[in-house]
Amino acid sequence: MRATITATARYLPERVLTNFDMEKIIDTSDEWIRTRTGIETRHIVSNGQATADLSTHVAKQLLERSGTKPEDVDIIILATVTPDRVFPSTAAIIQDNISAKNAWGFDLSGACTGFLYALETGANFIASGRYKKVMVIGAETMSSIIDYTDRNTCVLFGDGAGGVMLEPATNDEGILDSIMHIDGSGADFLQMPAGGSLLPASHETVDKRLHSIQQDGKTVFKFAVRGMAEVSADILKRNNLNGQDIKLFIPHQANKRIIDAAAQRCGISENQVLININKYGNTTAATIPIGIDESVEDGRLKKGDLVLLAAFGAGFTWGSTLIRWGNIS
Ligand code: UT7
Repeated sequence: MRATITATARYLPERVLTNFDMEKIIDTSDEWIRTRTGIETRHIVSNGQATADLSTHVAKQLLERSGTKPEDVDIIILATVTPDRVFPSTAAIIQDNISAKNAWGFDLSGACTGFLYALETGANFIASGRYKKVMVIGAETMSSIIDYTDRNTCVLFGDGAGGVMLEPATNDEGILDSIMHIDGSGADFLQMPAGGSLLPASHETVDKRLHSIQQDGKTVFKFAVRGMAEVSADILKRNNLNGQDIKLFIPHQANKRIIDAAAQRCGISENQVLININKYGNTTAATIPIGIDESVEDGRLKKGDLVLLAAFGAGFTWGSTLIRWGNIS
């Protein structure tokens, strides 16, 4: 049994931080940020707003758009590296907020590839034949783990959420194929060092700012281009397709230069690529579902279109997913 997307949704918090706002916070410039990353603005939560709040907006839209009653949701899978708390899971809070009283669910940590991991997981629950309605959400409050004194990272990230409803396909549409990878030898290049069992919170970890993102940008950049290009080329080849067969390429939005390089290596031209990093920055597990929902809203996806998703992130994790688009409003 194949899974298909029957509804899409996104939510971006209202507050917007522009590059010019960033210039007032640290030693940076709009010109540097735009030319090195493609980012112009990012959305940031208001005080007290957290990942479950962003996700709940998405979950409610998914119920409405797919015509699903809360009690009919089987599973809620949330991809995030910024859960409300270490435990209980943020999926549990979403479940309660939408009164999905017959659902179970969990958080999944795959960093920037998290949504693709969650989509693959959800698709396999549908394929098992035991579940009919699986909510897959990618949501992040990256601002909660950003060190706003570190110009190498703080200009890059934003907050946001997106998601899809998965249900059994009734014809040839749906999630056709996926390739997922993980390689922990890259763990130290992109991480939040403290707050887990390896380095529990202490005065020292707080003083050393170890509860925020650290990355070796140049190294991650190289692996990201190679990883996204190779895994996209692999899935095309395995399905006897080439870049020009794809209606829309929706890549993880970490850096416009990474996206351009990966697309070019797969024979995908600029007009086939979804770019929204200029508006939202890098929202980690949320970039791809936000991009999917925008594409639906803009009428860029029609029934039968082939859609390619690809991501690379901390872990390292990376992957690609091939979808034949169904009839979604
Ligand atoms: O989503 C998860 C995966 N993450 C990624 O894919 C991120 C991958 N990496 C990148 O996107 C890029 O490496 C960055 C955007 C993070 C950095 O771009 P870069 O071209 O690799 O710059 P760099 O780190 O080599 O820095 C170049 C210069 C340095 O100055 P010096 O040493 O040459 O004088 C930095 O200090 O740019 C400086 N710099 C900045 N200048 C102004 C770094 N950040 C900033 C900044 N504003 N915000």
